[in-house]
Amino acid sequence: MAVEGFVFFILNLLIQYRFFMDNWFTKCPQTTVRDEDEDVAAERQRVYDGASKTDILQIRDLSKTYVGRKRAAVDRICVGVPAGECFGLLGVNGAGKTTTFKMLTGDSDVSSGEATVAGYSILTEILDVHQNMGYCPQFEAIDELLTGREHLYLYARLRGVPECEIPRVTEWGIQKLGLTEYAGRCAGTYSGGNKRKLSTAIAMIGCPALVLLDEPTTGMDPHSRRFLWNAIMSVIQDGRAVVLTSHSMEECEALCTRLAIMVNGTFKCLGTIQHLKYKFGDGYVVTMKMKAARAGVSLDLEPVESFMESSFPGCVQREKHYNTLQYEIASSSLARIFQLVVANKERLSIEDYSVSQTTLDQVFVNFAKQQTAEDEDATLNKRTAGRRKDVKILPLQRRTQKQRDDGHVEFRAANELCGVDLTLVSCSCGALDEADELISAAVGEQ
Ligand SMILES: Nc1ncnc2c1ncn2[C@@H]1O[C@H](COP(=O)(O)OP(=O)(O)OP(=O)(O)O)[C@@H](O)[C@H]1O
Ligand SMILES: [Mg+2]
Repeated sequence: MAVEGFVFFILNLLIQYRFFMDNWFTKCPQTTVRDEDEDVAAERQRVYDGASKTDILQIRDLSKTYVGRKRAAVDRICVGVPAGECFGLLGVNGAGKTTTFKMLTGDSDVSSGEATVAGYSILTEILDVHQNMGYCPQFEAIDELLTGREHLYLYARLRGVPECEIPRVTEWGIQKLGLTEYAGRCAGTYSGGNKRKLSTAIAMIGCPALVLLDEPTTGMDPHSRRFLWNAIMSVIQDGRAVVLTSHSMEECEALCTRLAIMVNGTFKCLGTIQHLKYKFGDGYVVTMKMKAARAGVSLDLEPVESFMESSFPGCVQREKHYNTLQYEIASSSLARIFQLVVANKERLSIEDYSVSQTTLDQVFVNFAKQQTAEDEDATLNKRTAGRRKDVKILPLQRRTQKQRDDGHVEFRAANELCGVDLTLVSCSCGALDEADELISAAVGEQ
């Protein structure tokens, strides 16, 4: 009995100090997933190589198969989320987003794989993980009889905020999410939107290193949504990390530095918004406004039309009004479009022009089709996405370009929400390519 006791005590200590886990994980086999997108595979390799070790969240081959289900709800996903990043997890209903969150929070058992939050394992150090993580679940986990303020007090205590700091931290949460008016009322009487705000405030209280937000703005009015976006931005600017799921592409475009689209529990693509638009989007829409020679004289658009057809074979004319032409160009780079239009601007009497890109909606919708079509995985070919034709210019992003007197083109990219403001001046064709990339980096990646 004494020997048994001693052996089990030692075993207990070894488990507590992760002896088996550490040895096991270092020998963890590396998975190869067939037909995986190259960016998803590159992220997987980054995690395998240990390059994401310093990331706040590191997920390695995380999988979940529910009891009685044949197909995995989450299937060997790998990603690292560094400090200062808002990572978007997109996917249609049933793609596996909430299941991923539930595994990270310890609400659901992990079938295989591992994840760490601020260096703590979700398998062996879940209490430390909880200290470093805030979670806004998809469905409210609030006590109907407690007031908003009481909730924040409770969670601040649970997260280890020093007693003397709790009132200040609680008021910060109330103000940050615009709950001042309702803070003293029982949460059971809150509207849906206010419950979401309270859940988000709970996730943010105590400044955790990682904030997981599962559809935080569902049911929120536009003003409250903007309020919440600012709160999320402040978390990122604080050098912490956010993982966000949302069905609003506008929200993802405004907040996410990188995102992944999930289909059937796997990542189908991963990268910055700009990169995904470029890779899976339907190209660009060029709108040109022509100068009238004299008022009342009708314009001859024929030279511009033949210029477009010869310069961009396969381009599609979408609109033709009195002095305006709009084309969709699928097979050219932004740099080449700028280069040709700028070079021929005077000759063709183009007064003004703009180039806009496929929206994230279009990219998403095409991935979404894959999940509804059938259970099996299918790979999306580059540029087969984005068949929907309505293109909009993002409200929070500005991109302008102008020809300078010295013949160079000046590009300006700005994302007001992220505070990015970048100006580039072209000097050669190479620089135009570079400008393309830099604009993408600035607007998409902050
Ligand atoms: N408790 C459960 N038992 C069995 N299957 C489950 C359970 N919870 C989720 N699933 C299944 O796992 C898959 C992923 O579900 P999950 O809730 O993670 O999707 P989601 O991406 O969050 O979807 P939504 O956008 O609707 O919130 C679905 O097929 C779902 O039916
Ligand atoms: Mg969900």
